[in-house]
Amino acid sequence: MIFFDENLRTFFLESKDVTYSFKINEAGFLQHLYFGKRIEREDLSFAPPINTEWRIHGTYIKENGKIFNLNAYPNECPTYGRSDYRESMLAFDFDGVRVGDLVYDSHYIINEKPTLSGMPSIKGGQTLVVLLVDTIHNVEGKLFYTVFEDLPVILRHCEIVNRGKTSFNIDRVYSFSLDFPDKNWKTLSLFGAHGRERMVETSDIVHGVTVFDSKRGVSSSQLNPFMAMVRNKTTEFCGEAVGFNLVYSGNFALKVQKAEADGVRVTGGINDFDFSWKLNPNETFVSPEAVLVYSDSGIGKMSRAFHDLYRNYLINPKFAFKPRPIVLNVWEALRFDISTQKILDMVDSIKDTGIDTLVVDDGWFGGEKGRNDEFSGLGDWVVNKNKINLKEIIDYTHNAGLKFGLWFEPEVASPNSNVVINHPNYILRADGLEPCEGRWSYVLDLTQKEVCDYVVNSVNAILEEYDVDYVKWDMNRSLTEFCSSFDKETAHRYILGLYDILERIVYEHPEIFFEGCASGGCRFDPAMLYYFPQIWTSDNTDAYMRALIQYGTGLCYPLSAMSCHVSAVPNKQCGRVTPFNSRFNISRLGAFGFELKIAELSNQERLSVKEFVDEYIKTQDLILNGDLYRLNSPFNENLFAEQIVSKNAKNSIIVVFKPISVHNEDTVRVYPQGLMSDKKYFIKELGIERSGGVIMAIGLPVNLKKQDFESFVYHLETI
Ligand code: DGJ
Repeated sequence: MIFFDENLRTFFLESKDVTYSFKINEAGFLQHLYFGKRIEREDLSFAPPINTEWRIHGTYIKENGKIFNLNAYPNECPTYGRSDYRESMLAFDFDGVRVGDLVYDSHYIINEKPTLSGMPSIKGGQTLVVLLVDTIHNVEGKLFYTVFEDLPVILRHCEIVNRGKTSFNIDRVYSFSLDFPDKNWKTLSLFGAHGRERMVETSDIVHGVTVFDSKRGVSSSQLNPFMAMVRNKTTEFCGEAVGFNLVYSGNFALKVQKAEADGVRVTGGINDFDFSWKLNPNETFVSPEAVLVYSDSGIGKMSRAFHDLYRNYLINPKFAFKPRPIVLNVWEALRFDISTQKILDMVDSIKDTGIDTLVVDDGWFGGEKGRNDEFSGLGDWVVNKNKINLKEIIDYTHNAGLKFGLWFEPEVASPNSNVVINHPNYILRADGLEPCEGRWSYVLDLTQKEVCDYVVNSVNAILEEYDVDYVKWDMNRSLTEFCSSFDKETAHRYILGLYDILERIVYEHPEIFFEGCASGGCRFDPAMLYYFPQIWTSDNTDAYMRALIQYGTGLCYPLSAMSCHVSAVPNKQCGRVTPFNSRFNISRLGAFGFELKIAELSNQERLSVKEFVDEYIKTQDLILNGDLYRLNSPFNENLFAEQIVSKNAKNSIIVVFKPISVHNEDTVRVYPQGLMSDKKYFIKELGIERSGGVIMAIGLPVNLKKQDFESFVYHLETI
């Protein structure tokens, strides 16, 4: 619920278990008071200012004879040049003048948050809109705050409106700013690379500004648009954690600043590097949404809040909680070497295994020129009839009782493609320079409506001609040459163009299931989840690396969002040989499938495929839709253990994976969480019944075969 106390001029935003509060101070600025565990609605104006000893060498504005040093106070919407020297949330250029005051004008509360214009957003209920105005430059700033009765989450974003008669530039428009009054925090973030996405890193906060960002045009595997502030002693299970995630797929920045008096400011949104947006009279600029999650019970509770938020309010409700396709994707098995016969053979190989979807990956298109390697074909979304008979393949797949999936990479084009030859102006390019290639492709300039229309028409033509049930949408490069007729608006306009084509392809085909991908998980963010209920988490399918990648990804994304496939060994990315069973046990922690030649497996392994699928089907609702507890971190110890508990706590599964076998080690145990203390559970693998309280206190032994990369599963069920 949202309350405004007229006497205190204070807002109280109350989501489940949390309070977020700020007041309108005497000069009209929004002074942040508190974000944390739910508290009473009382006068909070004695909440700690950041800095009390600022008079010497401090600066201030004067209002009605009073002085206000904005650097000394937590601020909901800091701007530049008016005595707050920390990172600002907004920055403008009014024909050379870059300074102004945005002060409170009015506010209103709405029962349902409107969708964000041109951008994916989270479905939200009660929302506070605070109007700030700069009367000198005719700027209106709208701050949006959404609360949730069932989750410890606050959503924020802002909109800037030009109420004047001349245009001005927005040089920075972050989605939120939040000041923490003390310094006793660390940052938790997700860094990585292609094939090594979302590694977990905890760092001290130093004085100065730490930036987690992307300048690649995609949200990137190098740094995810997620970070959290965690107390020095916070663990998975206890202590405070405040998580931030941006619903955005392009250049972003999340900044953490420890300032002179040791308060910490976190702010972020669209990266202002190489960004400037011209706002004409009566136009509105909409920032992407930022998700703020508060947990008083560790990182695990924070993650579960993100998971519930995305499953309940972001991912397409048609698919969010449904069983996911169990796929055989032909990529790792065939790469570009596909033919009608080879694919029909793949279909035959999965009959009777329980796998329900066959996905034809790269290489089926390119028309006459074809695509038999990475060097050609992209951008020409025409079937290569010399190579495959797509209709025959689809009919055969459907007649076998399977669904059919097809791969696209709509945002790029090969230099020798017809589209590039016929329309050289369709490419992002800088005058006089050869555009950089990425995996032998150029990026289509989605800032142009004509280019968006080309992509939509050519992809939709295939989807309308052929009976496709599943699409894998790939994007295998970062952007370069952020130049178009829109100058420094290019990077953001590209993303708006991307969302536009996704709206017109994905939501125009509600019957098709779309999976996201960007060289694996190089664009894994909440905005992508709005279009793609699941994303190919990484091109790295090695069980050990996947344990790390999926563990990190789960910090803010639900297991149902991660596509995870069993592949052949030695693993193509790492050369490692891991047991078949362990490859299954790691892959089952998400939307499951295979990526290998089933026909070349031994009879025993083929039987295992069927057993794996049967076992997955039995537990998939629990795994995809339950509560995740991370029991042991492979980043901290030689053990990975994740437990999922059903929402009614009646069922639970624990997957344990031990990278390196150790002789004569202390007994390894895992300590389950989230069970009902007073209810008895049958522990299938031990054949015993014990109460949840006893199981959580005594733990469960992990008896693994003496071999590297072994895994083990516990099933618990109430009796
Ligand atoms: C990168 C993806 O991550 C792979 O799964 C595969 O689809 C290839 N692209 C195809 O080029």
